[in-house]
Amino acid sequence: PAPGWIVDTDVVVVGSGIAGLTTALRIAAGGLRVMVVTKDVLAAGSTRWAQGGIAAALGDDDTADEHLSDTLIAGVGLCDEAAVRVLVDEGPTAVRELIELGTRFDRAGDGRLSLTREGGHHKDRIAHAGGDATGAEIERALVAAVLAAARIEVIEHALVLDLSPTSTGGVGAVTLHVMGEGQLDGVGAVRARAIVLATGGIGQVYAATTNPPVSTGDGVAAALRAGAVVRDLEFVQFHPTVLWLGGSAAGQQPLVSEAVRGEGAVLRDDSGVAFMQGQHELADLAPRDVVAKAILRRMRKTGAEHVWLDARQFGAEKWRVRFPTILATLTSLGIDPVNQLIPVAPACHYASGGIATDLRGRTSVTGLYACGEAACTGVHGANRLASNSLLEGLVFGRRIADDVLAEIRADSPLPELGIDLRNKAVVSSAIRAQVQGEMSADAGVMRDAAGLARAGTALRKLSAQRGSDPGTESWEATNLLTVASALVTAAARRTETRGAHWREDHPDRDDENWRGHLDVRLGPDGS
Ligand code: SIN
Repeated sequence: PAPGWIVDTDVVVVGSGIAGLTTALRIAAGGLRVMVVTKDVLAAGSTRWAQGGIAAALGDDDTADEHLSDTLIAGVGLCDEAAVRVLVDEGPTAVRELIELGTRFDRAGDGRLSLTREGGHHKDRIAHAGGDATGAEIERALVAAVLAAARIEVIEHALVLDLSPTSTGGVGAVTLHVMGEGQLDGVGAVRARAIVLATGGIGQVYAATTNPPVSTGDGVAAALRAGAVVRDLEFVQFHPTVLWLGGSAAGQQPLVSEAVRGEGAVLRDDSGVAFMQGQHELADLAPRDVVAKAILRRMRKTGAEHVWLDARQFGAEKWRVRFPTILATLTSLGIDPVNQLIPVAPACHYASGGIATDLRGRTSVTGLYACGEAACTGVHGANRLASNSLLEGLVFGRRIADDVLAEIRADSPLPELGIDLRNKAVVSSAIRAQVQGEMSADAGVMRDAAGLARAGTALRKLSAQRGSDPGTESWEATNLLTVASALVTAAARRTETRGAHWREDHPDRDDENWRGHLDVRLGPDGS
């Protein structure tokens, strides 16, 4: 379709989680106009689902160096140390700014921040809010600030379709499908001096995930179509303790925060054995990939479909005060965690990779930045350390804003566009469940060459199922297919086991051949 409208702004930010809103607020405060476009309502993305918290060396006995060390260990040799250094050094200031903005973190009796621990951390450094509703509180504060900010305009219900090339080879506009009742409706384009993709994760690529339904990898797919380099896509983190709702449960699944183990809960098998003891120096609080693998091995050994999380020792009061969100979910499902064990199993949680960026958030395409889960800044390596994701969005959002403000002047000419809205080949929305099924079966937590080849073939077949109606569902299915195909390509190529990438046919880490990143880009024919 031809664009029904074109509007101009200085910077367009796609996505409205912690990464997008932090970037938008700081750019607007620096004097440029920002348009935030988001697929649902402002608060609908993954940020508001974050439970455990945000990690930073905020405690008296903690240092950025120790946070760096824990992050590097969790990333299994693949973190970019310079990026991690930025994350841990700038993290405490960025969290304090979030507090100044109005975020109410939980505090101890003496007024200090209450800090807890999660997997892979050797210190208590996770700030939390509302007990286990950290993301919801952060998102509340950010949304309130954005709505009150001068120079920020918001378009909700706007699906990003593609990025439009400039005459000089970069990108200069996003094309959108807006399903709104405002002045902007239908297909149109926002032209800008810079574009920031902060579209969040790809969890809906799999059948069961902690991610909300909007996490369909729209930004990663659009970046791939625009020729950007996407990095480390094979490292998809499976969270060890997702509430088990039955073998056929699909879609977004309730998380049981790692902070529950941080406060002393223990994993047990069907016989009551606390099987993480003796497996790692941190036992139940080992890095996430270690715990997820131990659970799956135990499930295989015993034939069980899940394991159990034992937090009975907390008692009713601690459950009520410290984990009200999880308690409400469990209670609604008839589980009483004070007297009963909680059934849990690993499920897809977080994309450690994404659109490759430098330390200023710049991608390989001129004019295009990426931030948050959509990006690969290099801080996570092969396995993200718990609660580093909100921090990454915060720290690198600030950096992108500073780079944009240094580079862009409000009176510089807007880019010359070659708007390309030729009817893009979208696939049928009906393939979404099939993509998820194939990915969970053959490209999930345990992978091998035969399964990945099967998944690749199945995805290629699905790409032939063209959609007749290029609406939101078809675009989302197209994006899921694009991201799934790139992920399978990367996973097949990396013939080793490292972090979140577990190859049963290559069970060892291979530093000689694989201590490096794997970049994926779409060829001119889209393959
Ligand atoms: C959790 O609360 O367990 C999730 C924290 C994270 O994914 O970093």
